[in-house]
Order: sequence, then C-alpha cells, then structure tokens
Amino acid sequence: MTLSSIRLMGEDARPVVLADEPADPEVLAARAAAELPPRFVWGAATSAYQIEGAVAADGRGPSIWDTFASTPGKTWRGESGDPACGHYHRYVEDVRLMADVGLDAYRFSIAWPRIQPTGAGPANPAGIAFYDRLVDELLAAGIDPWPTLYHWDLPQTLQDRGGWAERDTAYRFADYAALVADALADRVRHWSTLNEPWCAAFEGNMTGRHAPGIQSPVTTVRVVHHLLVGHGLAVAALRSRGEAEVGISLNLIPAEPADDSPAAADAARLVDGQQIRLWLDAVLRGRYPDDVIGDFARAGAELPIISDDAKLIAAPLDWIGINYYAPHIVLQGTDPRRMSPFIPGDAVLSVRSTEDVTALGWPVRPLSFAALLRRLHRDYPGVPLYVHENGAAFHDVVSAGGEIDDSDRRRYIARHIDVVREAVLDGVDVRGYFAWSLLDNYEWAEGYRMRFGIVHVDFATQRRTLKSSGRWYSQLIKAHRQTRGP
Ligand code: FCB
Repeated sequence: MTLSSIRLMGEDARPVVLADEPADPEVLAARAAAELPPRFVWGAATSAYQIEGAVAADGRGPSIWDTFASTPGKTWRGESGDPACGHYHRYVEDVRLMADVGLDAYRFSIAWPRIQPTGAGPANPAGIAFYDRLVDELLAAGIDPWPTLYHWDLPQTLQDRGGWAERDTAYRFADYAALVADALADRVRHWSTLNEPWCAAFEGNMTGRHAPGIQSPVTTVRVVHHLLVGHGLAVAALRSRGEAEVGISLNLIPAEPADDSPAAADAARLVDGQQIRLWLDAVLRGRYPDDVIGDFARAGAELPIISDDAKLIAAPLDWIGINYYAPHIVLQGTDPRRMSPFIPGDAVLSVRSTEDVTALGWPVRPLSFAALLRRLHRDYPGVPLYVHENGAAFHDVVSAGGEIDDSDRRRYIARHIDVVREAVLDGVDVRGYFAWSLLDNYEWAEGYRMRFGIVHVDFATQRRTLKSSGRWYSQLIKAHRQTRGP
C-alpha cells in the first residue's frame, strides 16, 4: 500500500499520513456498506433556486439571483434559474426518483421569496403550501426532509434596503425562520440555517461573482457578521417551535500552501482563517479568530459586533454540515497586488495542469478531505458532522441508447465516501453523507453547463435519467441497509 502525506492546517500543523485508497468503486461500495454504522444517513442535496424554476408562480417575489442573472455578463450565456429543473411542478416525480434510489434523507432549501415575496410580513400561503406538499410527499416515501432556510436567494426588496450588510436583514431572517417553522416543524426535525455563508458573503460581496455582485471588503465583513447573527436568531426561532435538531452547512475548504515558502504559508493561513476558522470559531467557540480580525482591519473593514452577539451566534448546535469539493492550492503572495487581505479569487489559487481535475478545474483530492475531517475532529471536538454536499462536475455523454455512464463522477463519489468510512473507523463522528446533487441543475454563474447530478436532466424536455453514479449510489445504500438489521 502506498502512503501519501498531507499537511494539516490549524492549531497543530503536524502532517498526517493516510493510506491511498484502491480505485475500484465496487470495492469501495462493498467496504462502505459493510463498515459504516447502521444509523449512517444516506442523502442527496439540492437548492431551491437551482432546481425549482417557476420563478413567478403563486406569488413568489424576485430574489437577488433573478436580478443578478438578468444583468448582462454575470452568468454563462445569461442563464438563470428559470426554468431550471421545473421541480416546483415535478416534485412528485422527483420524490419518486429519490425513493427509487433508496435515499434516507433529502436536503433541499426553502425559497425565502416564496414565503415572503418582499422579505417581510405574513407568510404567502401558496409558498408555504408548496413546501407542505413536498414534505408530505417525502414523509410518505419514507424520506427524512432536511430543509436549509437560506441557500442564497435573498428577496430583492431586502437587498434594495442594503441586504445582509444591514443588521435588519438578520431580524427579517429570524421572522422568516419562525414562519417556516410554524408551518413545518410538526413534521420536520432536521434544519440547517444557512448554506455556505462564506459564498454568500465573499462571492456575493468581495469577488462579485455571485449575487448581488458587489466588490467591497467593508460590505463583505458586515455581511459575514449579519449572516451569523441571522443564524443565531434562526436557531432560537426553530428551537422554540418543536423538537428541532439544528445546524449550519459550511463550505470548509482546506487551504494547502503551494510550496514551503513562508509567504505561501501565510497566504494559506489567511485563506484558512476566512474559509474555516472564521465560521467554526464563531458558531462553536463564540469568538472570531484574532488573525482574521487583523486581516479584515488591514483592509479597513470591521465586524459590526454589538452587545452580546458572540453568545447569540454561538447558540448550541446539534451538528455541523460540511460541504467539501476540493482544496484551495494557495500560492505565495509575492506581488502585493496578488495577495489581498481577502481571498482574491484566481490570483492566489492555482491548479497545476497535470492534476486530476473536474470540469470546473477543481482538483480531485480525497486526501485533503480526509485531513479536513480529522482536523475538525481534533480542533472542534464534540459536535457531530454530516457531509452536506460532495460531488463533482463532469461533462456527461448521453449514449445513443440514452444511458449516461459517468464513471468519473462515480469514482469521485466512491473515493470520498471511502474517506468518510475511514474517518468514521478512526473515531471521527460523521453521521451521514449527502451527494451533491440529486439532479443536474443551475450551477449559479456557470449556468447549466456544469452538471453535478447523479440524475441527468435533459433541460429541453425535463426528462430525468439515473446516471451510472446514481445506480452505484443506490446499490451502496441498499447493500448498507442489509447490514442494519430490522
Ligand atoms: C456549492 C453550493 C451548491 C452548488 C455546489 C456545486 O458551493 O452550495 O449550491 O453550487 O457548490
């Protein structure tokens, strides 16, 4: 067996040595089915704007993504989340697909602009009714609903008033959370407050690659804090309305220095701070890391903390959702313009051309995922983990017979599930895995060209076809179920 080593960022930077995994997905599936604990949860994930379509149906208001996507030059070919997968009208068929795959759980997001078209006021009954029907359909199929309250589709009216840069948006979010919980908490147990607040803050307000497309360090840092205040308030709203198990879904992207230079190490520290420690220290330890506050200050930006925000943000959680796709490979910042105090996008990130990469150019590195899981267990002990997103974009080929043999994706998912299996055997408390994504969907600024689904969607006809990765996943889930007993 060959051994590979990888440096582990964080409080203790000793390298960890992990075994390289065998490549055959069938071998990996058999191992996962036999060795993961009986209660391990198998799921798949989506988000509202990426699949629902029906953007004007039943009183839904516009979101920042409708506005962004209709702004020339912002998304691939100007594509938007309309019609996406038409899931709003096809949810029954989609739940049937999930049941056929054998999913235990389905992670989806609720569109705030369907519940409150302008981000305030009473619930829109038609908006609530859609999620009512979806939840009932899932439960009838034996699938546990795992809604996320915010997957980036802020009502445009709130953005017009400053969006998450204003503290008021956090209070609006708490009101919205309460309306959703009032309607669904009798049947929904697992709730995620925010999806990837790093993306909402930094991609939305620093790089400008996502809605609302702002490029301002000052705004970004205000958005960071108010998202977290909103998270804390939503946790309280959910807990006051039933037996909720609440968490947050974070994209904890590991930062790996491209070389041994001190400059690369400092660049990696900076990226690690903003991508991982900022969020976990806030929600689990009730404080922001000093070095991250320092990096923000160097950019003239300050977290708008008032009174006992720290306590509010660190409201106890039942689990952390981890979204993992690839590490950042961090170059040294020799040219000061290339090393901004923020993650400036491509300038500090590089992928060597010889690497195994996905269609998005993201490096395939299961070892980075393995190191991340161990590091979380070490630095933030005591909180259960769920993999809330993991998957890969590859360009699929539909055969003449209509089959999709997505062997790259199958192998990617198999290798990452194997990492989870190994981590669980090592004592890391990972309790479930959600594949991103159930369906090919609207991949934000990349439009429809980047396909992540284990189910192929023909966007012209809305026909769904299970890919070979989906068949593989389904077999794994069913084999694992046999180890669970009655
Ligand atoms: C994550 C997002 C998800 C999807 C995947 C590929 O950052 O949470 O909506 O776009 O990436």
